[in-house]
Amino acid sequence: MHKVILDTDPGIDDAMAIAYALGHPDIDLLALTTVFGNVSIEKTTRNAQYLLDCMGAEKVSVAKGAAVPLVQPPLPHSEFVHGDDGIGNCYPKAAVKLNSQAAHAKVQSQAAAEYIVSMARAAPGEITLLAVGPLTNIAQALILEPALPDLVKQLIVMGGTVDEPGNVTPLAEANFFNDPHAADTVMAADWPLTIVGLDVTHKIMLTDTHLARLRDEAGQCGQLLWDTSRFYIDFYTNNGAAIGLDEPCCAMHDAAAVVFLVEPDVFTTVSGASRVVTDGMAAGQLAMDRKGYQYATGHWINRPVTTRACMQVNTDAALNAFISTVISFGSS
Ligand code: RIB
Ligand code: CA
Repeated sequence: MHKVILDTDPGIDDAMAIAYALGHPDIDLLALTTVFGNVSIEKTTRNAQYLLDCMGAEKVSVAKGAAVPLVQPPLPHSEFVHGDDGIGNCYPKAAVKLNSQAAHAKVQSQAAAEYIVSMARAAPGEITLLAVGPLTNIAQALILEPALPDLVKQLIVMGGTVDEPGNVTPLAEANFFNDPHAADTVMAADWPLTIVGLDVTHKIMLTDTHLARLRDEAGQCGQLLWDTSRFYIDFYTNNGAAIGLDEPCCAMHDAAAVVFLVEPDVFTTVSGASRVVTDGMAAGQLAMDRKGYQYATGHWINRPVTTRACMQVNTDAALNAFISTVISFGSS
């Protein structure tokens, strides 16, 4: 059984990852820790509660995290990708106040970083951190507890890109671009760390056929993933993502990190010391040393080489893993 804390900025593809983590029989989803990113921290936290409620998981804790990046000024959010509310403009239109007394997922009193550290200290070596948003909470937790890499079972990050072009600049992926200082801080520590970046998530494209199967076979959860994905599919279609595919599609970014946790063999990886560029034209770029350069000085000195990055994926296996689990979860 994988005990998981999912650090997330829901987020339409985050919603898919949440459903997959909730539905997988080998995952015990302890909590969602929320971070700014796709939309503001207020909206990502409200969305986390709403998604858990919709998926019958109101007992899963929510810990609210960072509202702004570690160092740099905040960048604009991504409402043009995820909708003004962050979940495809499907958040209840009515003034649905999440009544703190009702059976709703409740926001912990501890902030995300403190929650992560206290949970890791209480269960050393048992908890997997799955990070699918900007890495601000993970960096803050690391600063709070420098031994965190030794206290977690592993850290899996949806973010970055090694060879594939970026999705927010030619060089940078969105989660790393949103907080490059946090990403570089995280890369500097000696975690059991795997990056699930655009090199593989751009090869895992969910089509409308896949999403219609969830709508038709995965109950209320499937309907929610279909409804929220409409805005996301439109964004990808309007930006030419469907080229080469004969129907509308979107990248299954965040759920791919969950696939790595439960089906690691569908990926192939490379390893090396990693940095993230924090400023200038290449801000947010992941740079991985895959040759083991021997540096006497410079930015690379004493960098741990425990960072793995996924480079290839068995696309059909990854899609089937996600779809079959969500159908089993949503139809039960
Ligand atoms: O680049 C894709 C990542 O950025 C995903 O986590 C998506 O939710 C956005 O946060
Ligand atoms: Ca995300």
